[in-house]
Amino acid sequence: MTEQRSDTHDPLWWHQAAVYQIYPRSFADANGDGIGDLPGITSRVDYLARLGVDAVWLSPFYPSALADGGYDVDDYRDVDPRLGTLGDFDAMVAALHGAGIKLIVDIVPNHSSDRHEWFREALAAPKGSPERDRYVFRDGLGPHGEQPPADWTSMFGGPAWTPVGDGQWYLHLFAPEQPDFNWRNEEVRADFLKTLRFWSDRGVDGFRVDVAHALAKDLPPDLPSQAELEAMDRATGTHLLWDRDEVHEIYAEWRRVFDEYDPPRIAVAEAWVDPPARRARYASAEGLGQAFNFDLLEADFDAAGFRRVIDDNLAQAVETGSSTTWVFSNHDVVRHATRYGLPPNGDTPRKSQREWLLSGGTEPELDAVRGLRRARAATLLMLALPGSAYLYQGEELGLGEVADIPDEARQDPTFFRSPGVDVGRDGCRVPIPWTVEGPSFGFGSGSAHLPQPPWFGKLSVEAQAQDPASTLALYREALALRRRLQTAETLTWAPAASDEVLHLRRPGGWEAVANFGATAVPMPAGDVLLASGPIDGSELPPETTVWLRVASQ
Ligand code: GLC
Ligand code: CA
Repeated sequence: MTEQRSDTHDPLWWHQAAVYQIYPRSFADANGDGIGDLPGITSRVDYLARLGVDAVWLSPFYPSALADGGYDVDDYRDVDPRLGTLGDFDAMVAALHGAGIKLIVDIVPNHSSDRHEWFREALAAPKGSPERDRYVFRDGLGPHGEQPPADWTSMFGGPAWTPVGDGQWYLHLFAPEQPDFNWRNEEVRADFLKTLRFWSDRGVDGFRVDVAHALAKDLPPDLPSQAELEAMDRATGTHLLWDRDEVHEIYAEWRRVFDEYDPPRIAVAEAWVDPPARRARYASAEGLGQAFNFDLLEADFDAAGFRRVIDDNLAQAVETGSSTTWVFSNHDVVRHATRYGLPPNGDTPRKSQREWLLSGGTEPELDAVRGLRRARAATLLMLALPGSAYLYQGEELGLGEVADIPDEARQDPTFFRSPGVDVGRDGCRVPIPWTVEGPSFGFGSGSAHLPQPPWFGKLSVEAQAQDPASTLALYREALALRRRLQTAETLTWAPAASDEVLHLRRPGGWEAVANFGATAVPMPAGDVLLASGPIDGSELPPETTVWLRVASQ
């Protein structure tokens, strides 16, 4: 049933891979405690193989108090006991590899958790000690250091400096439970190399690097204010906190470790940088090799906007010799089946999507049917593009965001630190439904750690698996076809029927035509391979993408 995947030793296997992100606590719960776990993943490898993905990206599974969904790591070289053991990890790797699926793990190098052994040592040690030097400590202002060293705000809201009781404060760009490492410290650098080898030796094929653009920092004796920090140019590699040029020295060191392995371990940077050209160094062969681009994720459902993003990113990939990446959904953003059913973004995309969901007590203006129709069309277009496609668990079911999680069930620190203004990211992290019925729709034998809405049942794997019109069937077919059809990483544009249509050609007679508009257009010539929605043959309906096979000229 399952096709043989590409040669496991092909060093460029990742260039056009379909990578499926698993948020482990919300994927499958094998022991019924409400939390997804590694044995749960192992039990679903057949599902992943049948879906047709080339690799899994596993979000953090390390021991953690879950102050930030596992992105607060207590120990980088172990498994959270609630998720399993190192033995379970090895079994999962073996099962994935046995099915021809690679594994990329998340690595979180900007900060540890406040329960990490080193942070506990830092708290116990005095000011100026080597233990404190592994993190970013500063004296507070005021006679007894009772004022923060600066008025900086964290990414999750609230202050970015927290006092430790002796006049010193530590920096956390995210939650207070996530103290930032000092990457000028040699022990920190060496320890991460050890971690990279630890997982690589266990058979991991690559790493997703969390906030890759934040590691290198340069804090002067007199810290600037938050306003000054925000006014600093981010485009020159000299901002005090973000995207500093010397961060690439770290990744050059990592690259040497990756290249010790056969095939070399791969890495993909999460780097929110601007202008987009600054992604190139993260994606270079001397660095991490690949970087996420979130441009499509941030774009409205619009032909011209999509085309601009596609052209820019393919041009960048040619420049760096890397392959580009495409993402619509992940564990940090509103699911795209919902986003596309909301009013357009305007100028502040991420914010306004959240605002619409939050809706200040009024109903969000959500057109769920349209959202799913557009999401299917956008995904089918994206899967025809050269580059790696990153998919997020549940999008193959057409899952929408869960907007109505009660406050008392929320877990995301953004919710608590905003406070309550930003609903946070729990709505895309709700455990996925496997069966139509059952206490947690087949996620586990008990209830789920985040409440699932009643409508999850009809979107379950069980409900869709045998339905040829389902979103799951669309993903399965698209991924199988894509594997067969993709050859050279090139694309040309064909003239389209209207400004609202994109028509692209891949080598070998594979074409994709996406109608972003509200009116049907004539169906272009060719044999229909697959369509994102119902078609009657003569017309391409609104908000629909079709794949065609055209005899090569
Ligand atoms: C990344 C992760 C996000 C996390 C943050 C801090 O952006 O994707 O989930 O909260 O880093 O680690
Ligand atoms: Ca469990």
